[in-house]
Amino acid sequence: MRKLIAGNWKMNGTQAALVEVEALLRLCAENLPAETDVLLCPPATLVGAMASLCAGSGVMVGGQDCHSQSSGPHTGDVSADMFADLGAGYVIVGHSERRADCGETDAVVRAKAEATQKAGLVPIICVGETREEREAGKAVSVVCEQLAGSLPQQASGQAYVIAYEPVWAIGTGLVPTKGDIAEIHEALRASTPDPVQILYGGSVKPANAVEILSIPNVNGALVGGASLKAKDFYGIVSPS
Ligand code: PGA
Repeated sequence: MRKLIAGNWKMNGTQAALVEVEALLRLCAENLPAETDVLLCPPATLVGAMASLCAGSGVMVGGQDCHSQSSGPHTGDVSADMFADLGAGYVIVGHSERRADCGETDAVVRAKAEATQKAGLVPIICVGETREEREAGKAVSVVCEQLAGSLPQQASGQAYVIAYEPVWAIGTGLVPTKGDIAEIHEALRASTPDPVQILYGGSVKPANAVEILSIPNVNGALVGGASLKAKDFYGIVSPS
């Protein structure tokens, strides 16, 4: 299965940050490992400019969240159709920061994933346990329940990606053991009949990318902090 290395810029970056994209495009043009796809998900404000910059390069662009409707009276929201209009190919849905900051439930995440597919884009559906849930031995059951509640109802046949992101590993420098990542990815793999990519996310850096990407059923990475600088992100895309 191809690997997908996706960068999530979160609420970081103004137009000045597009120089990092130009630098990444130069690096990828020199050498993009076989069977590897690269995706950048900047704030909504930069999706259009980034998509224009990346057009024809093979580097893809996506949104970080979308509304479940395609248009309407939802001040401040952006729809998947609008991202499609800008040239995006993916939308991240159900990131733990949105589940926590905006109270997004599995049902809300499912509606957003379905809206993303309806717009012709691929949702990256995020699941992950908290530290308390892991310490209570509930990590596998929590992520499988989240996935079951968040998957589009008619998922089969339509493209989607799953991202396993333990909440306690995001932005902390902490990473689960190889065995713990393998256990969750195996359980997620068994939870879906579709041959989907399952990404790992949470403190992925150039220094740990080779090890993480070699774990069975890990088909790529969702990268936050280390995706902001071209050199670091490329170090994950093409780890040396
Ligand atoms: P991080 O974030 O790489 O900074 O830990 C990952 C994410 O939240 O997608």
